Amino acid sequence: MERSVAQNLVDNLRIVFSENFPGEPLIVRSPGRVNIIGEHTDYNEGFVLPAAIDKAAYIAIALRDDDEIHLVANDLNKKFSTSLSALQPSSENSWPNYILGVVAQFVKKGVTIRGFNAVLISDVPIGAGLSSSAAVECATTFALNELLQTGFDRMTMIKMAQKAEHEYAGVLCGIMDQFASMMGKKDHVIKLDCRSLEYEYVPFSLEGLKILLLNTNVKHSLASSEYNTRRKECETAVEWIRENGNDIHSLRNATEEMLDQYVLPKDPLIDKRSRFVVQEIDRLLTGCLDLQHGELNALGEKMFATHEGLSKMYGVSCKELDWLVDKVRNNESVIGARMMGGGFGGCTINLVREEAIDPLVDVLKPLYEQEMNLPLTHYVVSIENGTEIIKK
Ligand code: GLA
Repeated sequence: MERSVAQNLVDNLRIVFSENFPGEPLIVRSPGRVNIIGEHTDYNEGFVLPAAIDKAAYIAIALRDDDEIHLVANDLNKKFSTSLSALQPSSENSWPNYILGVVAQFVKKGVTIRGFNAVLISDVPIGAGLSSSAAVECATTFALNELLQTGFDRMTMIKMAQKAEHEYAGVLCGIMDQFASMMGKKDHVIKLDCRSLEYEYVPFSLEGLKILLLNTNVKHSLASSEYNTRRKECETAVEWIRENGNDIHSLRNATEEMLDQYVLPKDPLIDKRSRFVVQEIDRLLTGCLDLQHGELNALGEKMFATHEGLSKMYGVSCKELDWLVDKVRNNESVIGARMMGGGFGGCTINLVREEAIDPLVDVLKPLYEQEMNLPLTHYVVSIENGTEIIKK
């Protein structure tokens, strides 16, 4: 990890905290994530293959003696105050909700909580599909667990952070983002079974290859409502299959034959959505074997296939994401590429030969900017550890 970037952030965080609040804070870092393959599979009890990255949210936090909560979002240049007795989602500001939502989970668990002062700083780009919100939720959960000495294990904290997103941000997300942020391991991807929550670290050191993220800089306001709609569409498909006497609880157990029989005749759109998920769960399992056998070209092909499915079947891509994937499809230095995360904007993830990155970005940037009238930002990311205390 580029120590200097992280170190600068932490130094800055300390300064901002001392300018706003008394005392010495606890500092916790929690990273953003990438996902190699397995998209929109987590809430369908399938598998995902994410990893924590070298971009993270950092929270500096100290308990107070009263029940007030004072927050500073350094990057947004914003402040927010409330109290435990007035705890509820803020409708004007979205950023405090990632913190307040976590506080609500501690309260729900019966923890005697106190007010606190906190400063947030992050280099996870917002709205880029890198889970900037999960990073904040996990950092906050971990920090409060430490300060309040509640002793929750990481799995409990992951679920609390996920619930914070459901209840305070209104996105019925799966467990992937919070899991990856909390459980990341340097140079490994996590093969996570989202049904049993069993997981395995798979080494991800790719000789001569790097992970290049290309940020469309698009964030459609549709993203969270469409996300929840997709989730419902998948649940509807499961219901229809169940109505016909098949004892399945999620698309994890569905087969394409079941879809042919019970879903396609009723609604071709729901069929397309759920068929993507059934195919994607399978694609991840074989893609994971490709990775373990070092067959990276085969894995890359599957990433392109995932993009195709997300775009044409699941309907969560956009013209900017499609354009970026299309432009690298026949580039021999790009092993695989696809849109990543919830969709409707954000980044594409590309596995690219190291020496080809600069020339590729140099070519793409002006073309993209001309075509889309938007800047193209890029990040070369490394895989790092999950949530950790930086300073007690
Ligand atoms: C978002 C959600 C995750 C997951 C992805 C799509 O990042 O937070 O739970 O569903 O979208 O794979």
